[in-house]
Amino acid sequence: MNYPILTAEEAAEFVQNGFTIGVSGFTSPGNPKKVPAAIAAKARREHEAGREFKVNLFSGASTNDPTDGELSRAEALNFRAPYQSLPEVRNRINAGEVHYNDRHLSEMSQEFRYGFYGKMDVAIVEVQSITNDGELVLGTAVGNTPTWLQVADKVIIEINDQLPESIRGLHDIYIPLDPPARREIPIYHAHDRAGKPTAHVDPKKVIGVVRTSEPLGLVSKFTPVDDVTRKIGENVCEFLVNEMKQGRIPKEFLPIQSGVGNIANAVLDALEHSDHIPAFEMYTEVVQDSVLGLLESGHCKFASTCSMTFSREAMMEFFSKPELHDRLLMRPAEISNHPEVIRRLGIISMNTAIEADIFGNINSSHVSGTRLMNGIGGSGDFTRNAYTSIFLCPSIKKDDCISTIVPMVTHTDHTVHSVDIIVTDQGVADLRFKDPIQCAEEIIEHAAHPVYRPLLREYLSLCKKGGHILMNPDIALAFHSTLARTGDMRQTDFAAILEKLGK
Ligand code: COA
Repeated sequence: MNYPILTAEEAAEFVQNGFTIGVSGFTSPGNPKKVPAAIAAKARREHEAGREFKVNLFSGASTNDPTDGELSRAEALNFRAPYQSLPEVRNRINAGEVHYNDRHLSEMSQEFRYGFYGKMDVAIVEVQSITNDGELVLGTAVGNTPTWLQVADKVIIEINDQLPESIRGLHDIYIPLDPPARREIPIYHAHDRAGKPTAHVDPKKVIGVVRTSEPLGLVSKFTPVDDVTRKIGENVCEFLVNEMKQGRIPKEFLPIQSGVGNIANAVLDALEHSDHIPAFEMYTEVVQDSVLGLLESGHCKFASTCSMTFSREAMMEFFSKPELHDRLLMRPAEISNHPEVIRRLGIISMNTAIEADIFGNINSSHVSGTRLMNGIGGSGDFTRNAYTSIFLCPSIKKDDCISTIVPMVTHTDHTVHSVDIIVTDQGVADLRFKDPIQCAEEIIEHAAHPVYRPLLREYLSLCKKGGHILMNPDIALAFHSTLARTGDMRQTDFAAILEKLGK
């Protein structure tokens, strides 16, 4: 290997105040493990010397603690996109200390190639190996790495010796041509390979290689299925079985997109144990431990993903079973989440909402309309283009004090035009073939918790009649203002608010 070997500290010395950095990976898998923390240490030294030091950080999705965590704790983040999920970063964004651009994950790569974000000074990329002519075997996620390697002025490579040689062949690297030369993406089934197993970098850009030996699969194991998540899973399953019975889902079934977290886990668990759901393929952005179980049992025939979001145990198990390796491909976020492919394959999308309103609009990202939680992530890529888009959430949270079904969402990530189905522990609200008022009735009766149904019906009755959508601007956000004032949405008193206003 002809590249200089550097320590993480030597590599970090290259990074200057104001640099724009792209990191490899998608969620914590595939992120660099050493250099970002060394940049954070440099930032601390610069700050102590009274000098400004902040960088702009672009990733595939959220990142690991040595990247987002260290850089935010060192007060070294100026701008962040397209997604994050660590409390340290979130708190700084919500405090106005970090500029955050919440983006559809499928668009980040192409927007960089189009020049919307200016130049990228350096990409920091974890790999299994690199050849002298710049062929790279990436790590346990792809993210936006292939484009970062193309657009960055310079590249720092981290070779992690914990990445097994058997990871070669699990990547499908394809970068679309940009308009007006764009062609169709040649993926006609979830299992089709469109590109090459390796990524490429111009060797002249490589500043050097940092050797690491860092454990893989640092994603924490999720909590087991509980009564509420089990009920949500069963409701999804029942809905899908009925769709098949009605002929709206073909008998071969359709590829599934499912997010991470306890609700997604419970849904996959229910699908696995259903006698009526046939073995299916997944076309998704992340695969968690439950997908490994599905691959092993044969319920999942193939998983197309951007990232292997496995716990350490699941990661080790996957690499010890070569028979599973031709049933999983990791693709760039631009492809795993591409609207064209999602629409073509007919994906059933399943994402989690913070709240939904009675007209079917979804808030995925901002608690009470202002406080960023994580971001939109890939939910918009999938929802807008799905064959059937499903949103999932428990009907109530925080000991009944919060209803996730509200008169009006405080922030809108997905409008009703893209939302087909809302599933809670209470049931399934099917918004297809319904006008807004019919949607409201459906959501109140089938998705809202019984404790909140009378309040939601009362809200509807207090709306001025006569429009296509009903709305009362004086009380539309009364659930949220009551929660802020009393800590309990059940205390909402529409009549008292209207009386105070003299209405
Ligand atoms: N009103 C007020 N607060 C709410 C709330 C609501 N309707 N819903 C959630 N919260 C609060 C919770 O109380 C919790 O606060 P805490 O940490 O102080 O306890 C916090 O927000 C997170 O809620 P929780 O229910 O634990 O979230 P989750 O882990 O189930 O994740 C999303 C739900 C929506 C935040 C998450 O799925 C997400 O980020 N989605 C967007 C990205 C996405 O969909 N990507 C595509 C698939 S990978």
